[in-house]
Amino acid sequence: MKEKKILCIVTGGIAAYKAAFLVRLLKQRGALVRVVMSKAATEFVTPLTFEVLSGNPVSWDLFAPRDEPGVEHVELATWAERIIVAPATADFISKSAHGAADDLASTVIAAARCPVYLAPAMNAGMWENPAVKRNVALLEGDGRRFVEPGSGELACGKTGPGRMAEPEEIVGALERSFAPGNLDGVRVLVTAGRTEEDIDLVRYISNRSSGRMGFAIARAAREMGASVSLVYGPVDVPVPEVDSAKSVRTSAEMKRAVTMAFPRCNLLIMAAAVADFMPAGKNPGKMKRGVKGIELELRPTPDILASVSGKKKKDQIVVGFALEEKGGEEKAREKIRKKGCDYMVLNVISETTGFVATTNRVTLFKGNRKVLETGLVSKVEAASMILDKISSDTRLKRKPKRVVRE
Ligand code: C5P
Repeated sequence: MKEKKILCIVTGGIAAYKAAFLVRLLKQRGALVRVVMSKAATEFVTPLTFEVLSGNPVSWDLFAPRDEPGVEHVELATWAERIIVAPATADFISKSAHGAADDLASTVIAAARCPVYLAPAMNAGMWENPAVKRNVALLEGDGRRFVEPGSGELACGKTGPGRMAEPEEIVGALERSFAPGNLDGVRVLVTAGRTEEDIDLVRYISNRSSGRMGFAIARAAREMGASVSLVYGPVDVPVPEVDSAKSVRTSAEMKRAVTMAFPRCNLLIMAAAVADFMPAGKNPGKMKRGVKGIELELRPTPDILASVSGKKKKDQIVVGFALEEKGGEEKAREKIRKKGCDYMVLNVISETTGFVATTNRVTLFKGNRKVLETGLVSKVEAASMILDKISSDTRLKRKPKRVVRE
């Protein structure tokens, strides 16, 4: 972090006191730190605390008279290499998700061009409020990154999710962002979302995959310099900006799209939750409701991962995902062998991991070896950690850089 320019935005929650520790840690690691506070944050901790800890003047007023000429919010936004909002209140998350700019803190975010990190802190009820969830998804869609809050005792006396991540964890996320693995010139193919397998004209079998993990991988790969192709089934979240994106619905459509795109990719990451079973025979019309129940015969879908792994060239890397209940490590190892892929990402089904959740806890296997354990982190962080590991661990084939001769 030496000489890295970090702008800390402190907004008005009780966790503002933890931001003091954050500033201190950043300074200890050699970062240059400036602090902006919201008006409400100054009710919790005085600007003087942050002035002393950061060694720089602290601003909170958009219209305060200044000694130097220039526009302060633009100057701060341009100066920063990373912005961290800690704590990020529900109100601040809502404002920045909608591009509001009515005080110095929100105006700096609106003007920011560098990566912006947010460490939310709020009561569990607020963190689980659908409006807050929507705003978090909007910001993630815009490429903002979240350092997920933990679960535990909250200042309101209740226990639950919403506690701001510890300062050490926030510093870790910022540090990783300065030393990301490099995917320059690598062609990455990512699958995401779920598939739908038709029972009749209007009904289908599917699962609850949201598409969050696959989209986080696609976004992180692009930020690391890869050219990214996405094949995605039905999802619940906005599709990220990538180099090419193909929407499919059934496992058969996904197989066709992946098989077509696979020969051109250097790294395939199959994060999609492809249905394992499909109805044996499709009923051409809409089945009528009868008095008796019906029996549905299911047969396995074609295993796309196994099929492409069987065709992969020496310089292609294939990564699968395994969603398991407890004790899935052996199953993950077995799947690598059975499917013939290089890596397997194991995630476990729970309220905070696996499907639907915005967080995950993954273990990465290479052959028989466990090469990474992320702990409970946001899916965005998990994606970066997985790609970092694969890019540093493997010799990925890359498109050679064009040499420009004068
Ligand atoms: O066997 P299981 O469904 O647990 O394997 C999960 C992995 O296999 C995922 O990477 C998923 O994308 C892939 N898969 C596939 N084709 C299927 C089922 C799963 O490629 N029919």
